Amino acid sequence: MVSPTCNAPVAPGPLPVIGHAWPLMRRPLRFARQLSEQGELVEVRLGGVRALVPCQPELLWRVLTDDRVFDKGGPFFDRVRATIGNGVGSCAFAEHRRQRRLIQPSFHPARLAGYAVVMEEEAAALVEGWREGRVVDAYQELFGAALRTVLRTLFAARDADAVVDRFRGPVETVLHQLTFRMFVPPSLQRLPLPVNRRFDRAVGELRRGIADLVAELRRGGTDRGDLVSALIAARDDENGAKGGLEDDEIHDQVLTLVVAGADSVAAAVSWALYLLHDHPHVREQLEDEADSALADRRAGVGDVGDMPDLPCTVRVITEALRLYPPGWLFTRVTTDDTELAGRRLPAGTTVAFCAPAVHRNPSVHRNPDVFDPDRWLPERARGLPRGAFAAFGGGARKCAGEAYGLTESTMLLSTIIARRRLRLVPGSDVRPVALSTALRPRRLLMEVTTRRGRAT
Ligand code: HEM
Repeated sequence: MVSPTCNAPVAPGPLPVIGHAWPLMRRPLRFARQLSEQGELVEVRLGGVRALVPCQPELLWRVLTDDRVFDKGGPFFDRVRATIGNGVGSCAFAEHRRQRRLIQPSFHPARLAGYAVVMEEEAAALVEGWREGRVVDAYQELFGAALRTVLRTLFAARDADAVVDRFRGPVETVLHQLTFRMFVPPSLQRLPLPVNRRFDRAVGELRRGIADLVAELRRGGTDRGDLVSALIAARDDENGAKGGLEDDEIHDQVLTLVVAGADSVAAAVSWALYLLHDHPHVREQLEDEADSALADRRAGVGDVGDMPDLPCTVRVITEALRLYPPGWLFTRVTTDDTELAGRRLPAGTTVAFCAPAVHRNPSVHRNPDVFDPDRWLPERARGLPRGAFAAFGGGARKCAGEAYGLTESTMLLSTIIARRRLRLVPGSDVRPVALSTALRPRRLLMEVTTRRGRAT
């Protein structure tokens, strides 16, 4: 079947009304993997909306970097705006540069060094809680730690437990429903059904919680080194447009960061643990690396971004992000007539950024389903085209939290590997669940063993 609008091949099996929702939500990776077999640009149906998915890196790169023409919009970002607001991740091109300039200081390396202290504490606390013989659901545990980290770095919260208790439930509800809502017409989302009421309640609770914490920080008046203090202090001098963020804008940014910042990291580390379980020789390499880097405290605070003492761990995280990119499906909408892959796209065409369609494309990555962290050795990765690895997106809309997320993921994995061994146990179900900002394992049950010579 080919698309009547631009003659692109259509992914097999669309159903009336829901389109490809069923295979996309049930088997997202298998579905994405098959897209590249259909062609370089393939049409999928997101509910009633036709969306074109680039499966070749060059096409994806064009979409990501030409953000004036391929603007944020389409079913995913329309739903995001309607619920979590118009923050830097969802706003349109016309507003984006200003918003990005204003949030950028929050991710300055000097601030990241402070956040790394929190990351290190949370990683250590998580692992200390994993006693010998205990079976843990690794994703759930990592999500708790990542949420605590993002909330503590956002608010320098004095009572982190209370903040986490207040936010965890609503964040989970929002994450669960946001992607699914892409396939549901807006009119149905307004019906007073229990599922809609739960969602609206969760968004309301998050907004109230954020407003309270921002007000408290404003009353305090001092910069506590946290993300929200940086947002409050941010000023935009560009083009003479002096001014900071209004409270409403700060709330939208904070909501964006809470939603973007926890499950992505938890999912990345969960998949890395799962992959290492099946590749003990790689795990042993990581253990050696963690022993020499972490045990004598050379890694950690101050080593943000590329984590130079943990190159092997970074490669494992990168490979986990290639195989299971947390941000797996976002949408764009064209603001002008344009062309892509030799096809004419009228203004208003929906394009989907689906990283696994490129990451699992055998013409881009050899043996794309095989876990091979050494494919990220500089000499092997050098020849890859731009767009071949898009776990953090690209261009001006590239993830603002890339260094933060990589640092935290690497630190978590290395701390776990240094001190514990984890064995996958029966009852696990590692089929990916498609959340809005993360593909995560359904149930990753792992039994904990303390590593020799380490009693904590
Ligand atoms: C492993 C972890 C992470 C991954 C894989 C990831 C992935 C992504 C991707 C793919 C995008 C681009 C979406 C698009 O183009 O439509 C994005 C945007 C964004 N991410 Fe992340 N992210 C991660 C962690 C974080 C963290 C920890 C934060 C903040 C604490 C964060 C904040 C943001 C923000 C603010 C944007 C919007 C940037 C803009 O449009 O200017 N992310 N992320």
